[in-house]
Amino acid sequence: MKIVSTVKELKTLREELKGSVGFVPTMGAMHNGHLSLIRQARIQNDAVIVSIFVNPTQFLPNEDYEKYPRREEADLKICTLSGVDILFMPTKEEMYAKTEPEILAPVNLAYILEGGSRPGHFDGVLRVVLKLFNLARPTNAYFGKKDAQQLYLVQNMVKTLFLNVNIVPCDIVRESDGLALSSRNVFLGKKEREQALSLSIALKNASQAIMKGERDAKNIELIMLDSLKDLRVDYAKALSRDFEAKEKITVKETILLIAAFVGNTRLIDNLWI
Ligand code: PAJ
Repeated sequence: MKIVSTVKELKTLREELKGSVGFVPTMGAMHNGHLSLIRQARIQNDAVIVSIFVNPTQFLPNEDYEKYPRREEADLKICTLSGVDILFMPTKEEMYAKTEPEILAPVNLAYILEGGSRPGHFDGVLRVVLKLFNLARPTNAYFGKKDAQQLYLVQNMVKTLFLNVNIVPCDIVRESDGLALSSRNVFLGKKEREQALSLSIALKNASQAIMKGERDAKNIELIMLDSLKDLRVDYAKALSRDFEAKEKITVKETILLIAAFVGNTRLIDNLWI
């Protein structure tokens, strides 16, 4: 595996690659969720590029940019063992200039759900993803359904800016008890770890109600809120898969989305119905 930290080095290595290239952008502190994306990229492409970059532009001023877990050594091992060809680990100075054009996420999606609590977050995500796409020039790029709104906005950017990359959505990887893997789970204490289960339980309860015939979106949201009553809930929504509110739920066209605080840690989870 070649490890590079400059744009120049990555460009040179990219030139040398032949055939299809799979790309997995990450912020590191890798877990099995990241690993599943890398594995899929490895299977489906001739070469695999992974980036690790804690992207400052997607953190709000009051957020955990400084505290975000950084596990360089463990990440290097995971990437080496999973057959990554090129690992790109730039500094923020390498990725951003003092003066440059900004990318703005579409307003109808940028300020709801994740964007409601984190205004500007998706501008930063799209900005860095576009830059990384320009460098890695991937055939296929792998994104987790865990960050459903991010996935949707990246797909939308690729489509509307006519980018030449195929986005591959990847299933959410969970602990055996249902908790969705997240780099932020390391912040959870023992009791919080138990409380965090409420998110996946809420999704399960809602999906069971849907299976039994409940179709009213508001009732489904109430079922989720009831399972989340011990947490500070940011949102619990049943929406169409293009993130629009609908009175009635349609199976195969719906997504259930939750964001809630467990202690000081904000967790998200979702289920595609
Ligand atoms: P990060 O949070 O490191 O996630 C990298 C990728 O791993 C994302 O596509 C995310 O959806 C996926 N992922 C995280 N947890 C997962 C899980 N439990 N199951 C499946 N996939 C999971 O998302 C980002 O970084 C950044 O916003 C980034 C796209 C790299 C831009 O900075």
